[in-house]
Amino acid sequence: MARKTILSGMRPTGRMHVGHLAGVLSNWVKLQYEYECLYEIADWHALTDDPYRSKEIDENVLGMVKDWLAVGIDPSKATIFRQSYVPEHAELHLMFSMLVSVPRLLRNPTFKEKLAELRKKKGYTRLAFKMGELDVEKELEGALNFLRSENPAKALRMLQSLISRTKSEVLDRITTETVLDETAIPPEISYGFLGYPVLQAADILLYKGEVVPIGEDQLPHLELTREIARDFNRHYAPIFPVPEPLLTETPRILGTDGRKMSKSYDNAIFLSDPPEVIEKKVKSSITDPMKVRLKDPGRPEICPIFQMHRVFNREEAPVIEEACRAGELGCVACKKRLAEVLKEKLAPIRDRAASYSDDEVSEVIREGSRRAKERAIRTMEEVRGAVFGS
Ligand code: TRP
Repeated sequence: MARKTILSGMRPTGRMHVGHLAGVLSNWVKLQYEYECLYEIADWHALTDDPYRSKEIDENVLGMVKDWLAVGIDPSKATIFRQSYVPEHAELHLMFSMLVSVPRLLRNPTFKEKLAELRKKKGYTRLAFKMGELDVEKELEGALNFLRSENPAKALRMLQSLISRTKSEVLDRITTETVLDETAIPPEISYGFLGYPVLQAADILLYKGEVVPIGEDQLPHLELTREIARDFNRHYAPIFPVPEPLLTETPRILGTDGRKMSKSYDNAIFLSDPPEVIEKKVKSSITDPMKVRLKDPGRPEICPIFQMHRVFNREEAPVIEEACRAGELGCVACKKRLAEVLKEKLAPIRDRAASYSDDEVSEVIREGSRRAKERAIRTMEEVRGAVFGS
């Protein structure tokens, strides 16, 4: 029986860190032996929130793929390809964009988070108008709603009532109040960003992906992909599988500041960090703030150092956990052990990553993209046939 197709991808935002290794990459390595795997460098996705960084993307692509290869992703087993080298993604994205409503995209949690973040940062506010006790704006909005629901008589009556309650003396007390605008969409949000999950659906369905290994946070995107696949299949032709998520239990790796490990938080330990840097980062990492002295009992479950012991130092982790809780192991010694383990684990990965030349890696990407494109072309022929009949 043919192996199922897996499609997954990552935006080329920089070098890979131990969080990527524990959460995504070790899983990708395993899957390549069981499935037909396509691993995408999602460079167009990387432009959706920062359209002018295409220059740095090239560099990021090479660094990222060197790390992929170094951890054991094998281009003779899995297809490593670059999204923008397969322009069929753009065509399918355009087709799918017609099948998704704007309100549906506005409800997407990732979009809503970004929106909330921007509104807070930029203080997106508007002015609310008041006249003495009268909330003029609210009353006008009420009148407008009647107009919108085609009841102009009621709208006019509301306006008359508003005017009748407007005493001339309050006209001098017209005030404005700054309120958070719950409806405004900041100009930093592009059309392309709103369509992010539609592009992701095109990524998956262009290769008829059946299984998509993703983190919990990406589930809403996969749900949209499934809706699009069903919709297309029903209205045009049953071309697409409805893909299933593969939620592997991904260990939570915390950054050195206790937040989620991320390049943008500057709290990550990179696979390419040299030994001194690993040591420095581990040493300066936070631990349980309640554990001040060696003899204080610690809480490994909230400690970033312990989380890494659990993933990268599996054999010793139970002993370390117990000793920490019992107040028998101090943070200094615990960190020292982790630094040793990480240095040993990462050295071969770092050396291997450094051994690939840019040309070699570019060739891997070109070859993978060529293979991906063959599949993409076939799907697009079917899609065009189903939609336009030719
Ligand atoms: N949105 C994904 C992320 O940020 C990256 C991605 C792009 C992806 N296309 C994909 C993941 C297709 C799975 C399938 O992690």
